[in-house]
Amino acid sequence: MNGQEAPIAPAAAHTTVLDFLRERGLTGTKEGCAEGECGACSVLVARPGVHRPTDWVAVNACLVPVAALDGQEVVTAEGLAALATPDAPGTPPTLHPVQEEMAVRGGSQCGYCTPGFICSMASEYYRPDRCAHTAADGHDAEHGPNGFDLHALSGNLCRCTGYRPIRDAAFAVGEPAADDPLARRRDQAAPEPAATHYTRDGGTFLRPGSLPEALRVLRERPEAVVVSGGTDYGVEVNIRSRRERYVVAVDRLPELRELRRESDHIEIGAALTLTEIERRLDGEVPLLAALFPQFASRLIRNSATLGGNLGTGSPIGDSPPVLLALEASLVLADADGERVVPLAEYFTGYRQSVRRPDELIRAVRVPLPQAPVTAFHKIAKRRFDDISSVAVAFALDIDAGEGVVRKARIGLGGVAATPIRALATEAALEGRPWTAETVEAAARALRGEGTPMDDHRASALYRSAMLGQSLPKLYAQTTTEAVSS
Ligand code: FES
Ligand code: FES
Repeated sequence: MNGQEAPIAPAAAHTTVLDFLRERGLTGTKEGCAEGECGACSVLVARPGVHRPTDWVAVNACLVPVAALDGQEVVTAEGLAALATPDAPGTPPTLHPVQEEMAVRGGSQCGYCTPGFICSMASEYYRPDRCAHTAADGHDAEHGPNGFDLHALSGNLCRCTGYRPIRDAAFAVGEPAADDPLARRRDQAAPEPAATHYTRDGGTFLRPGSLPEALRVLRERPEAVVVSGGTDYGVEVNIRSRRERYVVAVDRLPELRELRRESDHIEIGAALTLTEIERRLDGEVPLLAALFPQFASRLIRNSATLGGNLGTGSPIGDSPPVLLALEASLVLADADGERVVPLAEYFTGYRQSVRRPDELIRAVRVPLPQAPVTAFHKIAKRRFDDISSVAVAFALDIDAGEGVVRKARIGLGGVAATPIRALATEAALEGRPWTAETVEAAARALRGEGTPMDDHRASALYRSAMLGQSLPKLYAQTTTEAVSS
């Protein structure tokens, strides 16, 4: 913790990193929402890097149990300046370059959100490939001339300053100095995950050291709650006071963190974070590349995993519609072996699936070759960091010569008790020419898919209307692109 060793005890097994830090006087880390929405609690964690041995990754401290960081390195807003720019004895304290830019550009008023912004910004400041995309490549509204990706701040809310001065600060930071200890830290390996068995006040947090151990525990303890990133579970702990007796963390199991390319599929480890998948695939699966920026916020994507998103079985999870359209399968492992289940056969009811309590999702397989025309439409009240009212993912194979739809796969979220395939719409497209008439008929079928409900997010009528709009929108996009190319 900011370069010092800190014993986890006597914290309870469910105690969050946020509460742990604040109880030790590190009150720069704030609680705004306690559900991963505001970023006031953002801190930096040293994690295995995508382009260097270590990345400084910003996470929501309110969602992470402190026991999950056994043996790990955490830096808070207080530690940032001290570690990156150590002061000579007797000199006034120096701000970290990110703090300096926020101060001089008026990026802070009441200051409540500021330490969280600082940590998210610092994570992006230290992203190794940030400066590779500079003004020379051109930049847009979401990327600064210094390569700063504003999505790094998509999980941070400010209620009084306004975002323009914060953006100004983000776009003004330079490259880390060569002697910056936090920059140099990226060249050494991140701490290995520590096998952890922490019990306190009737609750246990277990991080098994290997997949066989995890599977053995799950067989012996069917009541165990599996967490893989904990961005959903952490909300339950904070908001609903959920207290489990036995929590098994699988998010650092090496067997669940591989990304393999085979001749007929790509296998994505269930415990890779969404950020890791996004950066390691780097656009190789365009439908996933379209999904990631719309999946919660960067802070959430830095912890959340595909295994977690599928394991919770939510009908409005963002990844299932996309993975259904990609015809993905899940590799389920238990103590005796593995089985492969098509995602289309995985969900059995509201938050129910064919996965038994003694099974883990080890990996997600995306078959190759991919359909050439893909799109992900997420209808939500906010463009980023929101829950979908309806989500539609398309993967279409359209014959380039004759313009006939050879194959259509469409995944839907938010219109039934489970994520579903739009089978009637697929049938209305397949074998027909990709024309306005076909699209109009198929859009009518799409409008009638599922059994949408009225709730506080959207009415059933609105959900159906959005489904109906989605296919003409895709058609307009494909035909506009065809014309412009
Ligand atoms: Fe709001 Fe953690 S307190 S995201
Ligand atoms: Fe007040 Fe951001 S400075 S909430």
